[in-house]
Amino acid sequence: MEKIFTPINAWESVGITKHFGGADATEELLKWVVISKHSKVLDVGCGTGYTACHITNKFGCRVAGIDTSAILLNMAINRAKKLGVISNVLFKKANAEHIPFPDNTFDVVLSESVLSLCESKKIISEIHRVLKKDGVFLSNEVTYIKKPSDKLSRYFSKSLNINLSIFTRKGWESLFKNSGFKILKSSAYRIRYSTEVKSHFKVDAPLKVVTAFASVLCDKKFRETYLNLELLKGWSKFLSYAGYGLYVCKK
Ligand SMILES: C[S@@+](CC[C@H](N)C(=O)[O-])C[C@H]1O[C@@H](n2cnc3c(N)ncnc32)[C@H](O)[C@@H]1O
Repeated sequence: MEKIFTPINAWESVGITKHFGGADATEELLKWVVISKHSKVLDVGCGTGYTACHITNKFGCRVAGIDTSAILLNMAINRAKKLGVISNVLFKKANAEHIPFPDNTFDVVLSESVLSLCESKKIISEIHRVLKKDGVFLSNEVTYIKKPSDKLSRYFSKSLNINLSIFTRKGWESLFKNSGFKILKSSAYRIRYSTEVKSHFKVDAPLKVVTAFASVLCDKKFRETYLNLELLKGWSKFLSYAGYGLYVCKK
């Protein structure tokens, strides 16, 4: 089957996943919860496992990560082995629309840059289900700083070749509230390129990042898909509307 490149799976094909704001934004979210070595944490859409491994390293607690991509989960397992935290993490292939854990299991659930790519309403209610009473949901989600017209937002999805479901800060807050969450904190930020680049180097190591970008650029299909004026125009317009939001929600 021919591989279809999108800005997301091109990143993933070279083993790099990301969320806007990078590792600094993860740290900012973690300031808002108390995690002890007895806490149970779940990372929904964990990608290559940076955040899950970081949390278990920092707090000594058990962390589960779910993702639909077996390739990324393998990378997460390798990362955990390399860091010596494999006995404290559990990476599982699963769709977040049906989280494979019982009700009231976790103290903290995190999700970084996943909901805007999915059926977010269903996933938010699943997150609510698996959280214990008074448990906290930490979310970093792509957030419109300035709301585009419906036509423009359809254009973003089409030109970026991804089914995007992005909201403003108030829009995300409503979705969380409608699933039964209380919002403890929410803030939205513009994307700063220096932060994004610095975070890639921290999360994925400089050599890996450079090799990954080089291999993607050498791919003819990638060049044909990406290096065209229409897509570059789409990206630059998209980034003038989109940023990221940090949300702290209590069950
Ligand atoms: C933009 S990446 C972010 C990954 C990771 N959270 C990070 O910050 O590096 C989105 C991730 O969500 C995963 N994903 C997308 N839809 C999903 C779903 N329905 N259930 C679970 N994971 C999903 C993708 O495989 C990918 O790893």
